[in-house]
Amino acid sequence: MISFQSVIKAYNSGDKIITAIGGVSFAIEPGEFVSLVGKSGSGKTTLIKLLVGEEKPTEGSVFFQDLEVSTARSEVLQKIRRKIGVVYQDYKLLLNKTVKENLSYIMEVIGAPQENIDADIPQVLSIVGLDQRMNNFPHELSGGEKQRLAIARALIHRPQVIVADEPTGNLDLYNTYEIISLLQKINNLGTTVMLSTHNKEIVDALKKRVITLESGKIISDEKVGKFIL
Ligand SMILES: Nc1ncnc2c1ncn2[C@@H]1O[C@H](COP(=O)(O)OP(=O)(O)OP(=O)(O)O)[C@@H](O)[C@H]1O
Ligand SMILES: [Mg+2]
Repeated sequence: MISFQSVIKAYNSGDKIITAIGGVSFAIEPGEFVSLVGKSGSGKTTLIKLLVGEEKPTEGSVFFQDLEVSTARSEVLQKIRRKIGVVYQDYKLLLNKTVKENLSYIMEVIGAPQENIDADIPQVLSIVGLDQRMNNFPHELSGGEKQRLAIARALIHRPQVIVADEPTGNLDLYNTYEIISLLQKINNLGTTVMLSTHNKEIVDALKKRVITLESGKIISDEKVGKFIL
């Protein structure tokens, strides 16, 4: 479903070249739950940006299903991005819009009919447990609730993959477990999940596949992995 083939990503940073990803190959099959771990600067976010086509590899290729992300034109990229829901550490919500509007907005952008918007929003909000908060603004939500809204937004196009980049980085223990349970629930409903995290407890408790990055290279890829750093 996802395939990285000998991917290198180098950034030009002033007079220096920084190799963020230094030759990485792996594949992810539909339905997997994969944790991506590695120290700060090891290349986790870069890998995610390469997957959604936000960055282009310097060498190598990235595939999503039969589509090559790394060379896709903008229409194809848009199609790919609707199939991959992304969740960020800092939520990236629209602060002047309500919970409901944060979701309706992105459906309107793609020209979804009003009846679909009216039907899908309550459904997605009930999956993340925010159906009672439709008319609240982001500042009226807790950190965990904000992240659940961000997950709802990632789910709205019914993606085949959810990619979460340190989604619990700003959350306390209780909310961290809520978010991880939600990602597990989404995975059990059939969506592939890729989770980047620093959290040893989460990774060890999940008992799922763990890919460990160090300085832009995969140093371990275990089916039932543990946090090894
Ligand atoms: N736009 C950029 N220009 C130059 N260097 C970059 C750029 N983006 C990332 N890097 C560098 O690439 C390396 C990998 O960064 P990346 O953000 O992928 O790491 P990360 O594993 O997500 O770290 P963190 O855990 O802190 O989020 C780092 O050395 C970083 O400084
Ligand atoms: Mg990062």
